[in-house]
Amino acid sequence: MLSFSDESVSYCVKALLRGELVAFPTETVYGLGGNALDDKALEKIFHAKGRPKSDPLIVHINSMVQAESLTEMTSFQRQCFDILGEAFWPGPLTLIVNASKNISKLITAGGNAIALRIPIGEVAQSLLKQSQLPLAAPSANRFGHVSPTKAQHVLDDLGDYPNLFILDNNQSCDIGIESTVVKISEKKSLSILRPGAISSLQIKKVLQDKGVSVEVKIIKREIKISNIGEHLSSGMEAPGQLLTHYAPSLEAFIVQKKELIDKNSQLFSSDIFKDAVMIDFNASHKNLGKLFLKYFDLSESGNPQEASRNLFQFLREAESIKNAKYILLPNLMSENNEELNAIFDRIFRAASGKYVQIN
Ligand code: TXA
Ligand code: MG
Repeated sequence: MLSFSDESVSYCVKALLRGELVAFPTETVYGLGGNALDDKALEKIFHAKGRPKSDPLIVHINSMVQAESLTEMTSFQRQCFDILGEAFWPGPLTLIVNASKNISKLITAGGNAIALRIPIGEVAQSLLKQSQLPLAAPSANRFGHVSPTKAQHVLDDLGDYPNLFILDNNQSCDIGIESTVVKISEKKSLSILRPGAISSLQIKKVLQDKGVSVEVKIIKREIKISNIGEHLSSGMEAPGQLLTHYAPSLEAFIVQKKELIDKNSQLFSSDIFKDAVMIDFNASHKNLGKLFLKYFDLSESGNPQEASRNLFQFLREAESIKNAKYILLPNLMSENNEELNAIFDRIFRAASGKYVQIN
């Protein structure tokens, strides 16, 4: 682990130029960076994370000009890319457009599209500017685990990987969940593949203001909802198979909102509260707090930004609590609040879509 300074950045830039990996903080989460133009470095990224090569990588750049040699955009893509890049970069938005033919298949997973982002943050910006390299950087966690928002999280997940440098700025990542991922189609629509701090409404508005009126589709979560009843009664025989993404090592459930409880939802009885860690929101279950092994609140005042900053840290803390068996998570699904929905996307995945009700 290296403290952020001019010297440590220069040291890391040299490492990147040699084809080594550097984990660095961005405003969203820590990225595991490698030279996007060096296949040996890209191989290391997949190897370090245990990530399948079917999952394409985001490339981080330092300016919109740097996108030129990496892309071959249609005129519609170019138009949307310029408007959205101008409006939201540097920032928590990833744009997917047609890739240049020269791009490594390791980045595109064999497809013809590339994901690009200019991140905020002194550390990320200095690495990108000083190296002048496009940096492929997925979140710096083991594949499928919770994304890291502190240098220590990266150390916990990837610390054993040889010659990996972790740049530490002694802060938690400000936003705390990953960027909004938007795919710009070749001709006339946009799809949000992953929700994040930048909402579909913001995106639509910025485009409309520039006279581009397009459909912005939100791709629904694809996840198999397991049968909760079977799950709670059968001694969790294979939680690993059900946990998909952002998965903590404990079994997680979403607490069903009282007003939404249907007669089929599983009751989580109070005798197992003592084995459970509750991660609450807006003090909804504060009155029950003492009954749980540990009680956290993402934001007692119901602030979405605070909640997003805390979620991954609390999931990781919950994992390390002795004797904990379950994590209970809040149902943040909302009709009209995209910020809450973006956080809930991670919660839903952490719980593999499983709901319980508690008294
Ligand atoms: O905030 C973020 O985006 C962070 C920081 C480090 O920038 N990065 C991040 O990367 O979350 P990663 O690899 O963990 O997630 C990238 C997501 C993956 O779900 C991947 O499948 C998708 O973006 N993706 C990347 N390239 C793509 C492409 N060409 N087509 C479709 N999806 C793509
Ligand atoms: Mg990731």
